[in-house]
Amino acid sequence: MTTWFITGGSRGFGRELVEQALRRGDRVAATLRRPERLDDLAREHGDRLRRWSLDVTDTARVEQVLAEAFAELGRIDVLVSNAGYGVFGAGEDLADEQVEQMIGTNLTASIQLARRAVPHLRAQGGGVFVQLSSMGGHLAFPGFAIYHATKWGVEGYFEALAKEVEPFGIRTVLVEPGQVRTGFFDVAERVPAGEPYRGGPADRAPTPVEEMVGSPSGIAHAIIEAAVSPAPPLRLLLNSDAYELVTTAVRERLAGWEAQRESAGAADAEFTGARH
Ligand SMILES: NC(=O)c1ccc[n+]([C@@H]2O[C@H](COP(=O)([O-])OP(=O)(O)OC[C@H]3O[C@@H](n4cnc5c(N)ncnc54)[C@H](OP(=O)(O)O)[C@@H]3O)[C@@H](O)[C@H]2O)c1
Repeated sequence: MTTWFITGGSRGFGRELVEQALRRGDRVAATLRRPERLDDLAREHGDRLRRWSLDVTDTARVEQVLAEAFAELGRIDVLVSNAGYGVFGAGEDLADEQVEQMIGTNLTASIQLARRAVPHLRAQGGGVFVQLSSMGGHLAFPGFAIYHATKWGVEGYFEALAKEVEPFGIRTVLVEPGQVRTGFFDVAERVPAGEPYRGGPADRAPTPVEEMVGSPSGIAHAIIEAAVSPAPPLRLLLNSDAYELVTTAVRERLAGWEAQRESAGAADAEFTGARH
């Protein structure tokens, strides 16, 4: 039996994960802003589901909930840092508070959760830390800049973290889905394009949810399979759109860098005067 700790358990991937883990016979510590959203699963699964109210941006509360969950459950095998949301709009058009809240929720809160979870995982001799990233952690669409900033940040932090904590028996998994039919796009804030951006690249309609290829249950299933496998991958790329878009973006980025071999090397030399 695997024991899970999951943030953002109320809806979308989080709820699917809670549900599928319980159906496997596992134990789940679900954290969410409104614990009553899981009343139905609590009735069905009794003690195997524990719930904590948690807004992931409240770092002191994150620390307290982690301590309580590890103390009550004895061991947590897999922590899933899933809570997150999106804001559509040109980077310039967002209010300062929207920028701060987006970074605070998707990036800073993920880092603070990991910083506080690692000592518990180390003390029990290891475990798996799963962080929700996105295909948007490797490519970037106009009109979604601040979201991309958070997911690219997550990619960098957790790639380094994976190397730091691997000696403690802790495996790190970055989950990189494509576009998936959760409520994510319905609740995402939409900031109308300011005059200079109207009709431009940032002023585009998001993909209609019914055209998205990914299913929430497929994502949760893939996360569970990866997390309980003997060698969880550092990057878990999910969905056909993510595969096409990420491999194309990375190939193009590589070609751009490879074309700069000479100019990159030329910058090694001290600059002693005009070359032209
Ligand atoms: N859907 C996609 O296409 C997609 C693709 C790639 C990556 N992702 C990532 O996957 C994760 C889950 O997304 P989803 O599609 O499942 O979205 P979702 O259906 O909108 O669910 C988001 C979850 O995050 C929670 N949440 C948001 N802010 C929170 C906060 N401050 N504290 C605690 N919980 C908070 C929500 O709780 P409330 O019910 O309280 O609002 C909800 O449980 C996110 O990190 C997202 O960036 C999604």
